[in-house]
Amino acid sequence: MDTLDSAAINPAKLDALIGRVIGDISAGYGGIMVSLGHKLGLYEAMAGAGPLSARELASRTSCAERYVREWLGSQVAGGYVNYHAISDTYELTPEQAFVLADEESPAFIPFAWQVPASMWADEEKAVTAFRTGKGIAWGDHDHRLYCGVAAFYRNGYRASLVQHWLPALDGVVAKLEAGALVADVGCGHGHSTALMAKAFPNSKFRGFDAHADSVLEANQSAVQAGVERQVSFATARADDYPGKYDLICFFDCLHDMGDPVAAATHACKALAPGGTVMLVEPFANDRVEDNISPVARMYYAASTMICCAHAISEGGRTVLGAQAGEARLAEVFRKAGFTQFRRAFETPFNLVLEARV
Ligand SMILES: C[S@@+](CC[C@H](N)C(=O)[O-])C[C@H]1O[C@@H](n2cnc3c(N)ncnc32)[C@H](O)[C@@H]1O
Repeated sequence: MDTLDSAAINPAKLDALIGRVIGDISAGYGGIMVSLGHKLGLYEAMAGAGPLSARELASRTSCAERYVREWLGSQVAGGYVNYHAISDTYELTPEQAFVLADEESPAFIPFAWQVPASMWADEEKAVTAFRTGKGIAWGDHDHRLYCGVAAFYRNGYRASLVQHWLPALDGVVAKLEAGALVADVGCGHGHSTALMAKAFPNSKFRGFDAHADSVLEANQSAVQAGVERQVSFATARADDYPGKYDLICFFDCLHDMGDPVAAATHACKALAPGGTVMLVEPFANDRVEDNISPVARMYYAASTMICCAHAISEGGRTVLGAQAGEARLAEVFRKAGFTQFRRAFETPFNLVLEARV
């Protein structure tokens, strides 16, 4: 590396950059604190409890007070818990509880930290992949990836899938109410499948995923949601599942596939007459320069180690990555034989696209 020319450094820009990277490192340290707070029930014990001393919180959670006090300090420093200096007590606001304590909330965040934890654990695999150009299959990651991804996406599905995304598709809700057959391709742990089944009791749902362990988990999700009579799951690839469907869904998985055109072509053949494909993908604009945000940063990083790596492991005919953008996704569906493709809905995290033959 050439010696740096310190005269070329703008001190204000340097300060701003250092401020940012320190903030990022601080967030990384904070992530494990969030996970501990969830696993030990610390946030849950604070939710709605009013001001608590470190000793009271430790006793309510059967934890050692000294650790709890230090953890509380980290939470106050990060703005995740409020501190009352006069009474030396700590309190969770309703907003903090919504994000940190309530597992049923669509904004619940602690599980999301399982994904970067898995990425750190898989760092050496990524180093090898960069050097060799070889892939890393979805099933070859640290175990924390699977629940982390499923729980992170589940938040968005709970908040939006039945309320906003399905109604944004042309005529689909009426079909689901009357009784339709639906395929959830790349269903993972099947949270999307179970949510739809619960909302539309006259319809039947089949989830397919290439990862056998995820299919086992999906069966559990269906039982927990009480929809096991309406849904079934099977291990199958996106280009070889059986049946004809009124609605075929791809939730955050098309970009992971090694041949997304083959997956879309199979969907084209597997649609019943008048059927619809709902494609849910990570939110992205079409150009790198328009994807500069915390959300894009997160998705590009996951895409590097997880999505592109899996697509490459499947042969990588087209490696879309998690920031493909609507134009590239539309091209996949055009090549597969679809004539209609439109953006039906968007959230800061997702694009919801509708494709029809
Ligand atoms: C990011 S996860 C999303 C899972 C689920 N749809 C969700 O939203 O939680 C991507 C899923 O796609 C599955 N997958 C990847 N390639 C596949 C293929 N060729 N055929 C079927 N499933 C595939 C993976 O096994 C994984 O479960």
